[in-house]
Amino acid sequence: MDWGMKNRLSRIIRPDDGRCLMLAVDHGYFLGPTERLEVPRKTIAPLLPYADSLMLTRGVLRTSVPAESHVPIVLRVSGATSIIGEDLSKETITTSVEDAIKLNASCLALSIFVGSKYEHQTLANLAKLVDEGEKYGIPVLAVTAVGKEMARDARYLGLSCRIAAELGAHIVKTYYCDNFEEVADGCPVPLIIAGGKKLPEAEALKLSHDAIHHGAVGVDMGRNIWQSDWPVAMIKAVGAIVHRGADPKEGYGIFLKEKEKDKSGQKSPQKVVKTVGRSASFD
Ligand code: R5P
Repeated sequence: MDWGMKNRLSRIIRPDDGRCLMLAVDHGYFLGPTERLEVPRKTIAPLLPYADSLMLTRGVLRTSVPAESHVPIVLRVSGATSIIGEDLSKETITTSVEDAIKLNASCLALSIFVGSKYEHQTLANLAKLVDEGEKYGIPVLAVTAVGKEMARDARYLGLSCRIAAELGAHIVKTYYCDNFEEVADGCPVPLIIAGGKKLPEAEALKLSHDAIHHGAVGVDMGRNIWQSDWPVAMIKAVGAIVHRGADPKEGYGIFLKEKEKDKSGQKSPQKVVKTVGRSASFD
């Protein structure tokens, strides 16, 4: 592996422990102003010191993250669909590799939709992006999106993750499921998990712990951090699980302790962004 590729990967997966805490704030690329991410700059700022890397689009990066920030950027470069559109799987590559280089991206992220109507298009997008990434030494994170008709089980996720790795993805993001070790065993590149829908904090911490225990190298977590009433406490607790080997009970203890100090809490009633059910589901 070339020096540039190795160097960028080491900014995403920490070489000291082989783990990764990626903060996902890219949801607006098809969901619009997602609850508690309505003003991205306000959501991101207090969490930035605790994230190993930040996953987002170029629009939010340019408008909502200080250029002086040292946090490595995982740039979402697929999209051009919306939650009210025809089909979420109809994604294309939305950002050139040249623009990603201008933005000093450490990694490129793109979704694949295995088993969907536009499966071929999204897998071809991945192959093309890997070619571009290899040319410039930029790793690619493949996100295994799940359509509403797909079972989120080890068989389906294992299939998606393996295909992503076979097409050259350097890291794969998927969902945690029963028998997750089968998914991890069948995927020859590092796996990270999405947090998914907001859960009670103790459950989200257990999810993070179990995923790592069964083969993930870390998390790419969004809503379970910034939709918490205590987002800074939550990211610190996730960090303890990812990097310090805390078990779920210890992680929750850290959350409870940290929430007393967390001034970033948002106690206002949550806005509900209504999603129109014509498209594939997202959770
Ligand atoms: C999904 O495609 C988005 O890329 C999110 O980044 C991803 O789902 C992780 O966010 P969350 O933890 O909120 O599921």
